[in-house]
Amino acid sequence: MQGKDLLQLAEQFGTPLYVYDAEKIQSQFNRLTKAFSKVENLRINYAMKALSNVSILQLLKDMGSGLDTVSIQEVLLGLHAGYAPEKIFYTPNGVSLEEIEEVNALGVQINIDNLSILEQFGTKHPNVPVCIRINPHVMAGGNTNISVGHIDSKFGISIHQMPHLVRIVENTKMNIVGIHMHTGSDILDIEVFLYAAEILFDAARNFKNLEFLDFGSGFKVPYKKDDIETDIEELGKKLSKRFNAFCEEYGKDLTLIFEPGKFLVSQAGFFLTKVNVVKQTTSTVFAGIDSGFNHLIRPMLYGSQHHIENISNPKGKERFYSVVGYICETDTFANNRRIAEIKEGDILSFHNAGAYCFSMSSNYNSRYKPAEVLWLHGKGRLIRAHEKFEDLLQNQIPLTTETTI
Ligand SMILES: Cc1ncc(COP(=O)(O)O)c(C=O)c1O
Repeated sequence: MQGKDLLQLAEQFGTPLYVYDAEKIQSQFNRLTKAFSKVENLRINYAMKALSNVSILQLLKDMGSGLDTVSIQEVLLGLHAGYAPEKIFYTPNGVSLEEIEEVNALGVQINIDNLSILEQFGTKHPNVPVCIRINPHVMAGGNTNISVGHIDSKFGISIHQMPHLVRIVENTKMNIVGIHMHTGSDILDIEVFLYAAEILFDAARNFKNLEFLDFGSGFKVPYKKDDIETDIEELGKKLSKRFNAFCEEYGKDLTLIFEPGKFLVSQAGFFLTKVNVVKQTTSTVFAGIDSGFNHLIRPMLYGSQHHIENISNPKGKERFYSVVGYICETDTFANNRRIAEIKEGDILSFHNAGAYCFSMSSNYNSRYKPAEVLWLHGKGRLIRAHEKFEDLLQNQIPLTTETTI
């Protein structure tokens, strides 16, 4: 999709606006499938935390994707979108036994990541097929928030606790059908994946009834020009070969699972905002837009760089701008960035706005959340309306006259 399409969508639906290109999601899905075509049983579970709009879930379902979920609410959204329970995986962290039991009752594959809950669940439900999330103690991921497989991380069961884990499984006679790991997001080097895979294979050798191995995700996508990305094709070649060899050793064709979020939807997304004000100070030219970290928090939370394009003046002379939001705190999207000359009223398009953008948005400053549009077959379809004042009040219960002071 092109700048002129985005400009037309901004005009048609208003700003701020998220736009997702269905074709890009499809091409990323196909790319991953093709890279692992040598694996007999491949399964892709879309990590819906990245972007959980029900229409996006439906789109991925139609492509043949399963779902990776982290909360019972995500499971319910997945079921609502039409996924069969057996197409949904549930990998929570730090949730209650009750929530895990509730999800299990829905027929969804559960994945347990600590020994305490594993023992309690196994004692009560020894026949339920369970997956175990291990912590491989690998330092990987683009920043500390998204590095989740290292020794000090709260995620997974330490591989050093394997003897204890095996004892729990033997004592409870529970049914372990899968081993899972996810070491982090934005992993640059495929050697890290291959190294961690060996740890997963080692862990798998402890269990006799496995059906699948889940390698999580963490594929890095480019965020700016000439940025590094995971070489999926190379990873596909190397890991498929290694996985097939492991299956032979294990004596069974296991299913290889990935659960990508960013890889599938990041580059498909554009966030369109309007410039409210251009403000020249003694040192800086600020472009103040009709949004803030309430709509796109990644630059402020992770220091992420989203490429910003002035689609109203794409060929204009480039100047340096700091692009800032309208929130009552410093909310800088980009510092001293070269952007084609900006005038008030211009539309700025943020790239890579598909993953962890809308799904991390909030109503801070009592602002409405943006609308979402899916670009499908050359047409924009509204898949979430702009919020209205009633949405801010929806669950609030005003004091009655008797309860006021
Ligand atoms: C368990 C798990 N799986 C998959 C993902 C998706 O990662 P990514 O968006 O980098 O593909 C995450 C991200 O937080 C995760 O925690």
